[in-house]
Amino acid sequence: MMKVLLIAGARPNFMKIAPIYREALKYNHVQCKVVHTGQHYDYEMSEAFFEDLELPKPDFFLSAGSGSHAVQTAKIMVAFEELCQNERPDLIIVVGDVNSTLACSVVAKKLWIEVAHVEAGLRSFDLTMPEEINRMVTDAISDYFFVTEESGEANLVREGKSKDRIHFVGNVMIDNLFYQAEKLDGDKPGHFETNKIKKKYKDYAFLTLHRPSNVDTRSGFCEITGALNTIADKLPILFPVHPRTKKMMDEFDLHLSKNIFLFSPLSFKESLFLWKDARVVLTDSGGLQEETTALGIPCVTIRENTERPITIKMGTNILAGTQKDSILKAFEEAVAKPKDQFKVPPKWDGKAAERIWKILLSVHP
Ligand code: UD1
Repeated sequence: MMKVLLIAGARPNFMKIAPIYREALKYNHVQCKVVHTGQHYDYEMSEAFFEDLELPKPDFFLSAGSGSHAVQTAKIMVAFEELCQNERPDLIIVVGDVNSTLACSVVAKKLWIEVAHVEAGLRSFDLTMPEEINRMVTDAISDYFFVTEESGEANLVREGKSKDRIHFVGNVMIDNLFYQAEKLDGDKPGHFETNKIKKKYKDYAFLTLHRPSNVDTRSGFCEITGALNTIADKLPILFPVHPRTKKMMDEFDLHLSKNIFLFSPLSFKESLFLWKDARVVLTDSGGLQEETTALGIPCVTIRENTERPITIKMGTNILAGTQKDSILKAFEEAVAKPKDQFKVPPKWDGKAAERIWKILLSVHP
């Protein structure tokens, strides 16, 4: 029996562990338990996703909660160390680049437990992003690197990782997307509250925004809302608001156009229901850059850099920067793009989780 702990802490992790968990159920000799660190904890940010993504209740919930990076990371580490000592897994699987990813991989490795990093090797080369530090530390100590795009492989090789530990398997985020999109097509999504607004406007933009570098300073946030208000004069914007962003909007008392429609965080399916038919997606999220690429929706990334360059190479994604003028320019470019030129990256075919388990089980038969 191969004992595995599958780790998730924050919203984008839940989408990534869902296909890995589902695939594990196909193997009788794999015991895969889900650990939720509690980094995200609001119903809308956490439990709603577990239900929506068909994940079971976590086997272990570490209750880390919010806090400074040090406090949050330390709480996860203390709780996860105790769990590892009790459970003694053969392997842990961490995904993405959040604080839970770093905390759990460091703990496991110091207890001589193998670490597999899913979505390894991505680099923004921007050390002001906490996620970049999390990615680099996790990759420094992982045993298996599961890579989503060619750049990840190249970055790891440049950092001295041996090629036989690097596996280009595709993208579990896209496994989940295809699985959920098919379900959504089978459903009658009329029950979503946002169905009314979607029907009313038909042509709209979809926005997400939560990076500390974009929302944590008044001047930065105002620059971005300046662009959004101008865009909203032409195209209504549907905007589910992340808790961090809500907190900062209240603090800064920002003016937003009446053509920007705000919602509480949406479930995965309801969010997909909106963005898959949007004229353009505006975002600073990592995952949405990839998901829009997989479905061929133009995406304007409100950041100075991206760790996912394949999304730009495929034609869907435009790196807009964070200045009002540069965002407006990118928006105009995005809506004018001929969609028939968009491409989908290699191996983004819904089979990444299958490839991951095949590789893990070839080492742990
Ligand atoms: C975290 C990840 C980020 C990811 C994002 C997705 C790190 C360093 N950052 O950022 O990579 O893109 O999740 O959402 O791991 N809060 C709530 N309820 C919650 C969770 C958070 O109200 O359930 C509020 C708290 O006030 C908290 C703030 O949001 O202080 C930020 O949460 P935190 O987990 O620290 O970082 P995120 O911005 O969510």
